[in-house]
Amino acid sequence: MEKSQIIVTGATGSIGLAAVRSLLSKDLPVIMACRNLNKAKTQRDNLIKQFPHSEINILELDLNSLSSIKTFVDNIKNQGFKVDKLLNNAGIICRDFSVNEDGFETTVAVNYIGPLYLTKLMIPLMEEEFNIVNTVSVTRGVSKLDEHFFELDKKRFSQLGTYGKAKYALFLSSLTLSEKIKNGHVNLTDPGVVDSNMISMHRWFDPLADILFRPFCKTPEQGAIPAVNALLCKSTDNGQQTTDFVQNDVKLFSGNKSKVISKKHYDNPMRHWLWEETEKQLKVEN
Ligand SMILES: NC(=O)c1ccc[n+]([C@@H]2O[C@H](COP(=O)([O-])OP(=O)(O)OC[C@H]3O[C@@H](n4cnc5c(N)ncnc54)[C@H](OP(=O)(O)O)[C@@H]3O)[C@@H](O)[C@H]2O)c1
Repeated sequence: MEKSQIIVTGATGSIGLAAVRSLLSKDLPVIMACRNLNKAKTQRDNLIKQFPHSEINILELDLNSLSSIKTFVDNIKNQGFKVDKLLNNAGIICRDFSVNEDGFETTVAVNYIGPLYLTKLMIPLMEEEFNIVNTVSVTRGVSKLDEHFFELDKKRFSQLGTYGKAKYALFLSSLTLSEKIKNGHVNLTDPGVVDSNMISMHRWFDPLADILFRPFCKTPEQGAIPAVNALLCKSTDNGQQTTDFVQNDVKLFSGNKSKVISKKHYDNPMRHWLWEETEKQLKVEN
């Protein structure tokens, strides 16, 4: 029987590629969902040298464009792929304010709107007991959402502030999504601070940070561990293997551990506003 595929978005990035490598080492087939096909093809050639019997497909996906996301999902459907796992790993920190073709600020589009829209389109195509993993960040702890979140206001934009809000929005909407689905699971991965392109701020202090900060960051392989644990529904809580999820209990995977998200986040007054506003923005039916 044809094997179910695992979709990894941003598979050409540091953590994404490390996650792909880890999945291939377990003999699992992967779809690299990437905006840069040439980069993906070069990486696939290298991966095949390392894992000669692996199954690696590449499909184009630009999370900054709703039509690209739609085309990606159509391709999954038309090419008859069976999928049971989706790792929403791609992300971006934009230095400057910009608005995409769909009218979303780019940081919000790539880190929040895109993964959510992709997930909503993919859910009806996925196998029973599917597993969705969304990538969040430590910045969620210091980010607060308000009703200005979708407003296109350059004055409210900041490189880390807007990124933190978009990641926190993904965190909150993952809880609501989990309540709405019946035949699958939603979980979160926090890679920690990882030595990748993403932590370049494109500012004058980057060379200093490279010397003083980067050596203390996690490697991409370490950053990918919680993502792979979450995808494979396994975690090692205090050294003990947990196997089953409790329906609707979203877990946050971090390092080699996982914990259930606490009730206070479900009680966040912005959670339902965010979900409804996102539905309106995407003009999708419940
Ligand atoms: N690095 C950290 O310290 C850290 C900490 C917390 C959370 N995270 C999260 O971990 C995830 C992976 O980050 P990373 O550190 O591996 O960063 P990275 O090396 O910069 O990789 C980011 C990946 O996202 C892809 N991407 C960017 N914009 C895209 C778009 N519009 N459509 C499709 N793909 C797009 C990139 O594609 P290209 O290869 O074409 O550029 C790349 O594959 C992100 O969600 C990030 O927010 C990272």
